Amino acid sequence: MKFFIDTANVDDIRKANDMGVICGVTTNPSLIAKEGRDFNEVIKEITSIVDGPISGEVKATTVDAEGMIKEGREIAAIHPNMVVKIPMTVEGLKAVKVLSAEGIKTNVTLIFTANQALLAAEAGATYVSPFLGRLDDISQPGIGLIEDIVTIFDNYGYDTEIIAASIRNPIHVTDCALAGADIATVPYKVIEQMTKHPLTDAGIEKFQADYRAVFGD
Ligand code: E4P
Repeated sequence: MKFFIDTANVDDIRKANDMGVICGVTTNPSLIAKEGRDFNEVIKEITSIVDGPISGEVKATTVDAEGMIKEGREIAAIHPNMVVKIPMTVEGLKAVKVLSAEGIKTNVTLIFTANQALLAAEAGATYVSPFLGRLDDISQPGIGLIEDIVTIFDNYGYDTEIIAASIRNPIHVTDCALAGADIATVPYKVIEQMTKHPLTDAGIEKFQADYRAVFGD
């Protein structure tokens, strides 16, 4: 499974990139707004840090296909690695069809059912983003959605890649890898949590103590 980082914070992106574990970035309107920076400025900076797919979403207030297509072309023109993130709506699907025919990569977001993923793949989406955590939040097991989409895409040989999104903890990541998601997009905090185990810390302390006892610092 590949990892993207789910943030618009360039410090977190740099830290994760330096660890060598991420090969892409996803942003959304809330994440961009949290940084309080101009969309184009922050996206350009991200493309200078990570050499891989960078998802930038059309404006949250743009709901018609025509507007999404126009913005999608502008986002794609920022850098060859740009992926246009489009919400899962009828208008969104129309925009995906046009943009993918032009060779522009798309990521259909806010996927909460297998049928939505199936439609997005048929429309030509490069990626679909099923939201695991937000389903868990309303007591619907999100991992079942990832498993269903993996099975359906395998059944029909879709090239569309599954980005498991709305990841809230390390267990989500393991579950997505077991389910066969192509990619997990993970906040920096969860990447950090994934590096930890109390026995690793205890082991490091013991090695240091044993070494120091004989050789000093
Ligand atoms: C996906 O690309 C979204 O940016 C993200 O994973 C949403 O996560 P959240 O539900 O924690 O906001």
